[in-house]
Amino acid sequence: MTEQLTPVTGSDRRPRESDRLLRRRAAAVIPGSMYGHQSAVPLPPEYPQFMRSGRGARIWDVDETEYVDLMCSYGPVVLGHQHPSVEAAARAQTELADCQNGPGEVMVELAELLVATVRHADWAMFAKNGTDATTICCTIARAQTGRAKILVATGAYHGAAPWCTPRLAGVTTADRANLGHYTFNDLESVTAAAAAAGPDLAAIVASPFKHDAGYDQELVDPAFARRLRELCDETGAALILDDVRCGFRLHLGSSWEPIGVLPDLSAWSKAIANGHPLAAVVGSDRFRDAAASIFVTGSFWFSAGAMAAAIATISALGDEGAIETMDRVGTALRAGIIEQASRRGLEISYTGPAAMPYLTFAGDRDHELGGVFAAAAIRAGLYLHPRHNWFISAAMTDADLAKALAATDEAFAAVQARLEGGNT
Ligand SMILES: Cc1ncc(COP(=O)(O)O)c(C=O)c1O
Repeated sequence: MTEQLTPVTGSDRRPRESDRLLRRRAAAVIPGSMYGHQSAVPLPPEYPQFMRSGRGARIWDVDETEYVDLMCSYGPVVLGHQHPSVEAAARAQTELADCQNGPGEVMVELAELLVATVRHADWAMFAKNGTDATTICCTIARAQTGRAKILVATGAYHGAAPWCTPRLAGVTTADRANLGHYTFNDLESVTAAAAAAGPDLAAIVASPFKHDAGYDQELVDPAFARRLRELCDETGAALILDDVRCGFRLHLGSSWEPIGVLPDLSAWSKAIANGHPLAAVVGSDRFRDAAASIFVTGSFWFSAGAMAAAIATISALGDEGAIETMDRVGTALRAGIIEQASRRGLEISYTGPAAMPYLTFAGDRDHELGGVFAAAAIRAGLYLHPRHNWFISAAMTDADLAKALAATDEAFAAVQARLEGGNT
């Protein structure tokens, strides 16, 4: 293990032989050679596809090149890779048993912990992926209300099932028949969409802030969140908060608790178990009977190891002040990046919460400059993404931050060179 973790940087870097060979083998046996959000195919060629290991805020690809990690496995890793107390809890549980004829005691302990931690939660259910959780929320809302229509924000991502996938290949009109759309943060549009759904409105789904991939991020206007709550109260529909991406990164509780808006149901996954596979739906008492009435399950949903990891993760988030750390490091990263861009006269937007930022260049509609920036960052040992928000883990040390900022400075130099007609 130690050998794998030996840093390989700068001029020491070997050609990416292992990644190249794996990509070639994958092309023969995996459709498209890779699929989904972790496909490196649409990324600059400097990106590795296959990863080997991670510790804290550092990761290594299959060619043992080291990076500071600003993607955190696209969200699940919140305390850093291989967090000792999380791994110990998962290991202890799986050595005892993981996948059994019934859940372990940890299921009840975890449900109790979520009910104690998330203000609107009176109960909890578990699944594996964020898509499971958002879909279950919609099913519960429909079971409770006896209605069909679900409102979602245009462009928002709620998962990869036919009702919500952004790619329409293989999706039927019937899969989408009961969806209505509104514009995030637009009071008039959501009021109109609710009116159009009329007495058939089962739920309004919202993410804590607008974090659509490829666009500048937009924090929620508290008046908009309050209006969603009001609309649901007036109509009897469920307010569903999709906390899959933000949950346990911005607040130790539901992400709208700081603005005082409590949903009826919320969907969680990603950071809940620091990378172990788990999702959760939590809800208020009004939806308890409906939640008990639906049939949802999965062969691996009740595995105890990931639940033990979740208990350890949620405990460590509080004990280690992780939310505060992510905010502090994210704030320092933002200050550094804004200073670097302004020193070079580059016009950027740096949007989103400090712990989940996103960078774009003015006028860079096709993300060309974003690609130049990301490619140069990865060459300098920083793993971020050109078209998706980044994630900062609580494991980021001052040394990680310094290395990240050294890399972004090189990346801005590459963008500047491109704008000035150079080839970098
Ligand atoms: C806001 C949001 N909802 C739902 C999902 C779907 O989660 P999963 O990929 O675990 O199914 C994601 C995944 O990125 C997400 O960001």
